[in-house]
Amino acid sequence: MKINTATFVISAVNIEGCPKPTLPEYAFIGRSNVGKSSLINALTGRNKLAKTSVTPGKTRLINHFVINDNWYLVDLPGYGYAKISKKERAAWGKMSEAYILNRPNLLSVFLLVDARHTPQKSDLEFMEWMGDNEIPFSMVYTKTDKLSRQELAKNLKHYQEALQEDWEELPTAFVTSSVKKQGLEEVLSFIENTNSLFSAS
Ligand code: GTP
Ligand code: MG
Repeated sequence: MKINTATFVISAVNIEGCPKPTLPEYAFIGRSNVGKSSLINALTGRNKLAKTSVTPGKTRLINHFVINDNWYLVDLPGYGYAKISKKERAAWGKMSEAYILNRPNLLSVFLLVDARHTPQKSDLEFMEWMGDNEIPFSMVYTKTDKLSRQELAKNLKHYQEALQEDWEELPTAFVTSSVKKQGLEEVLSFIENTNSLFSAS
């Protein structure tokens, strides 16, 4: 998919503040610092569309971007950031969860996981939560440029083994690097395909 336009629309604290649900929508979620905002910038080819930071906890609201005037991309706050208060963390989780459960045009969630790490409890729990709530999602491995080919293969295998304990069928997974611009076309093709199903329904 060619990106012609990518425009910030609005930051919302809750679903009432989001744009009218008239276009297909995709949300990017994952632990703080996993690379959500960077991936959004890489996908759209706009370096400063979503704000990125070396400090976790940069994205604190539900941020909507409209792409090619025909689909929404959503940057959500990260979860599992230890340096904020429990109360604040719970509020963030509630905001994202309420958004995911109630947004009628949300066609798929992309759950980002850092390819360098072993499966994290919070990610596995979040996937389980989406499964229980029948939320369609796929996985995106990020920061693969920081690993050798062998390390990457080993980590992906490890992750798949962990998932097989809970899932009969493994979720679709994309292997990406925002720095090296890898795996981006695959994510965009997936979105393009899903968009065509939306307009056909
Ligand atoms: P929060 O908004 O805090 O939840 O973080 P985020 O998930 O949006 O992460 P963000 O995109 O801000 O990136 C966090 C850090 O990881 C930044 O320093 C990025 O430059 C770095 N980063 C993101 N993607 C990649 C990647 O593909 N490769 C490398 N090497 N670094 C990356
Ligand atoms: Mg962010």
